[in-house]
Amino acid sequence: MIGASLSDAQMQSAPLTDPTGATAPSLIEAHGLVKVFGGLRAVDNMSIAVRKGEMVGLIGPNGAGKTTLFNLLAGSLAPTHGTITLGGTDVTRHGPDRRIRHGVGRTFQIPRPFAQMTVLENVLAGGQNQTGERMWANLLRPARVAREERALVAKARALLDFVTLSALENQPARTLSGGQRKLLELARILMADPQAILLDEPAAGVNPSLLELIIGRILDLNRAGTSILLIEHNMDAVARLCSRVVVMAAGRHLAAGSPAEITRDPAVVDAYLGGAPA
Ligand SMILES: Nc1ncnc2c1ncn2[C@@H]1O[C@H](COP(=O)(O)OP(=O)(O)O)[C@@H](O)[C@H]1O
Ligand SMILES: [Mg+2]
Repeated sequence: MIGASLSDAQMQSAPLTDPTGATAPSLIEAHGLVKVFGGLRAVDNMSIAVRKGEMVGLIGPNGAGKTTLFNLLAGSLAPTHGTITLGGTDVTRHGPDRRIRHGVGRTFQIPRPFAQMTVLENVLAGGQNQTGERMWANLLRPARVAREERALVAKARALLDFVTLSALENQPARTLSGGQRKLLELARILMADPQAILLDEPAAGVNPSLLELIIGRILDLNRAGTSILLIEHNMDAVARLCSRVVVMAAGRHLAAGSPAEITRDPAVVDAYLGGAPA
């Protein structure tokens, strides 16, 4: 399926065939998504599917509707029209917390850590769903709760090690650089063991050495089986990470294909030249 665009009909006939001929079910599937803000159709009839283990790039000029599409997929915004299924379950009306329980985590274009909390506490906050509903357990089984809490701290520390922020675990998050905040967000969402992650411009504003680290960690996660949908303006990073790229312009699906096909598609080149500079 690499290099071909996914029609709505193809996405409905899941499971889809991957390039090796094996079938991989769609983890994330959205059909006919529309989001209207006042008079603006920020997302206008978008359909997209991400299969298990796949890494898909989502590109398009500024204002194309990419972040709004993420907000719809992650449940931060309700669509005006359309449906979203995660792992085969219709989650169109579910909020972000229930989507996290269905295995989908997301990062923000501009990370918003809890500024006063430490780096470690921020990562622990990503496991909140596991520690919720704790009140009665605390009263009834304090030893077990303490054991579980120690396990969560150990997991948070292992994730900080994965994103190379261990040395900063006791620093307030506000002291981190932009690139370090992106790494912190990654560690935070991994606390919930997501099967799929939505990454909104993980490379934007990141210095070159941290950029290599972030790309490496994204590849590690994908190789370990995590499905990834990635918004990114850095085409070099997209080409290294993604076998399939979907292009949006003015809220709509414009093109899809391999990074090489996309970069030589005249409609894509036009959309970038006609729109705001990326
Ligand atoms: N909450 C909102 N209210 C009104 N307009 C919005 C809102 N969020 C995004 N928009 C508008 O929707 C369009 C798409 O924005 P966005 O999804 O952020 O694009 P991208 O991420 O591709 O740059 C833009 O014109 C933007 O101004
Ligand atoms: Mg955006």
